[in-house]
Amino acid sequence: MDIDSWLRGIGLGQYAEMFRANDIDGELLGRLTSDDLKEIGVASFGHRKKLLEAIAQSGCAPAAAPAAPAMPTLIPTAVAPPPTSASVDAVGTVRRFMSPRMTLPIDWPEIIAHPGGETLDPDDWSEALAISRGILDDAVAYLRDVRDRPVWKEMPPEVRAFFDAPLPRKPQLLAEVYREVAETVMAYPMGNVHPRFWAWYMGSSNFTGAIGDFLAAIQGSNLGGGSHAAALMDRQVVDWLKTMVGFPRSASGTLVSGGSMANIVGLAVARNVKAGVDVRELGVAAIEKSLCFYGSDQIHSCHRKAMEALGLGNQALRRIPTDSALRMDVDALRAAIARDRADGLAPCCVIATAGSVNTGAIDDLPALAALASDDDLWLHVDGCIGALIAIAPRNAYRVAGIEKADSLALDPHKWLHAPFEAGCALVRDASAHRATFAVTPEYLQSAPRGLASGEWLHEWGLQTSRGFRALKIWMALKEHGVEKFGRLIDQDIDHAHRLSALIEAESDLELVAPTNINIVCFRYRPSGLDSAALKELNTEIMLRLQEEGTAAVSDTTVQGRHCLRAAINNHRTRGEDLELLVRETLRLGRAIATH
Ligand SMILES: Cc1ncc(COP(=O)(O)O)c(C=O)c1O
Repeated sequence: MDIDSWLRGIGLGQYAEMFRANDIDGELLGRLTSDDLKEIGVASFGHRKKLLEAIAQSGCAPAAAPAAPAMPTLIPTAVAPPPTSASVDAVGTVRRFMSPRMTLPIDWPEIIAHPGGETLDPDDWSEALAISRGILDDAVAYLRDVRDRPVWKEMPPEVRAFFDAPLPRKPQLLAEVYREVAETVMAYPMGNVHPRFWAWYMGSSNFTGAIGDFLAAIQGSNLGGGSHAAALMDRQVVDWLKTMVGFPRSASGTLVSGGSMANIVGLAVARNVKAGVDVRELGVAAIEKSLCFYGSDQIHSCHRKAMEALGLGNQALRRIPTDSALRMDVDALRAAIARDRADGLAPCCVIATAGSVNTGAIDDLPALAALASDDDLWLHVDGCIGALIAIAPRNAYRVAGIEKADSLALDPHKWLHAPFEAGCALVRDASAHRATFAVTPEYLQSAPRGLASGEWLHEWGLQTSRGFRALKIWMALKEHGVEKFGRLIDQDIDHAHRLSALIEAESDLELVAPTNINIVCFRYRPSGLDSAALKELNTEIMLRLQEEGTAAVSDTTVQGRHCLRAAINNHRTRGEDLELLVRETLRLGRAIATH
C-alpha cells in the first residue's frame, strides 16, 4: 500500500513525512490507535478521527489484522532538524513545528491558504470543544464536592518544583497542559471556596460568576471604553451598586480590582477637591497647607498605601483612637481636627470604616457624616466589608448613613462573592470624580458614531485597559436576585453570632472582641498561661487546623490581645461547620497544652 498517496487521497498528505519517519506501512497502519497517532505527532483530534475512520474503511482495520505482533516503538530515532515555530524558508517553504520530534512539509492546506499566518486558535475546534467539555465537567465536580476535600493542604516538594520549570519554548497539547494544571494548581488551592474557610477576609466565589469570567474572556472586550454592550453592562452594574447602598443615580462610579484600588480612587478625588491648588498640574508640592486624613486605629492598611501613593505620606493619615466597641471615638476625632487646624494644617477627609478588618466594627456613620458636613471635610467610607450590609434585610440598619458619604469603596468580591477581582468606587460628585482622572490623548478621541462613540470608562480611574468585571457580577445578580444576596449576608452574620455563643459556652474559650457582624475574635484560654504562652498556643492551634485541612482561620491582635479570627464571608458555611471548629479548637488546644 502506498501510504503517501493514501494519505493524500484522504486529504491528509501533510502527515506523509511523519508516517515515513515512523516506518508505518500498510500492515502497521491497521493496528494504529488514536494514542499511537498522537504519539507520532498527529496533534489534532479531528485528524486522528479522520485517519482512524479511513483506516477502518481501507481494509487495514485491526479486526482484519492477523494476531498482533509486538507494536514497534513509534518514537523515531532519526529526528528532523529542531524546528522553532512556523517559519518560511528562503524558497518560500512553510515549515510548521508539530511535535518535539517532527516537522511538517509545506503542503498543509491552511498554511498554504494563509502564507506566513499563524494563530492561537485551535487547529481543530471539535477537539478544543471535547477538551473544554471535560474541563467543565471537572469544574462542576470541583465545586460540587468541595466540602469533601480538606480546606488546605501542604504542597509536596515535587509540586513546588513544578513551578520552577523554565519558559516553555515548544508547544504542548492542550489536554496535557490542562492535566498539569489539574494536578498542580487545582489540587493545591488557597481554599476560600471551601465551606470552612474563614481566614483574613474573602468571598467564596460562585459558579455563575466563574462562567461570567469565562464568557468575558471569550468576548475579550476592553472596558477602557467604547460603544459596545459590555461597556453598557459595566455602567449598569455600577448603577445597581449605587442602588444597593442608597447612592443617587447622579453619582459616578467605576469597577476596579478590589477594595484597595477603590479606596485610592475615592481618596484621590478627596485630595484633589480639597487641595486648594491644581494637584494634577502642579503636584502635591504645590499644596499650601499639608492635608490631613482621619481614620480610626482600626483602619485597613491599604489606606496607608493610598496616602503614600498619593504623595501625602503615611503621617498625613491620623489614627484616631477607638472606643470599647472598636469604633472611631468621635470626640477624639473632633479634638484631632481642631489641633491640626490650630497647627496651620488643612484637615481634608474623614475615612469612616463600615466593617473593620479586625473585628467588623462599624464607625458611627451618621455622626461622622454630620461632623464632616459641619467641618467642610470630605467623608470617604471604606465599606469594603460592610457597605453591602445595606441589602441585608435584618442588618441594614447597622450601616444607616453610608449613603451620606462623598465617596465609598465597596467590594463585590467579598459579600457578592464575585470571583476575584471586583471592587467598586462610588463618588457622589461625578464631575469631581471625572476631573481627577480624565485625560483625552489624541489616540483616544470620541467619534460621533461607531466604536469610539461610547463613554470612555478609563476616565473614572487609573487604568486604561480594563477587564470586563461587570459580567460575573451581573450574571450572578440576575440568576439569584439581590434579595438572596441580602439574605446570605444575614445568614453569615447569624453564623458569627452562633459561633460566638458556642465559644461563650466553653470555659476554655473566650471572645476577645464583641461580635458585631460576621467576624469572631476568640482564643483558647486555659487558666495559668501568660499572654506570650497563649499566643504561642493559639498560633499552633491555627496552624494545625490549617494543616489538618479542618478549617482556615487567621489571627490578629485586638486591644493588645492576640486571638484567632473567623471572618465568615461564606455562602457555603453551615452550622455544623462552626460546631466542628469549636470542637477541634478545644481538642487541639488540650492536646497542645498537654504536650
Ligand atoms: C476594611 C477593608 N478595606 C480594604 C480592604 C482591601 O480590599 P481588597 O483586598 O479588595 O483590596 C479590605 C480587605 O479585606 C478591608 O477589609
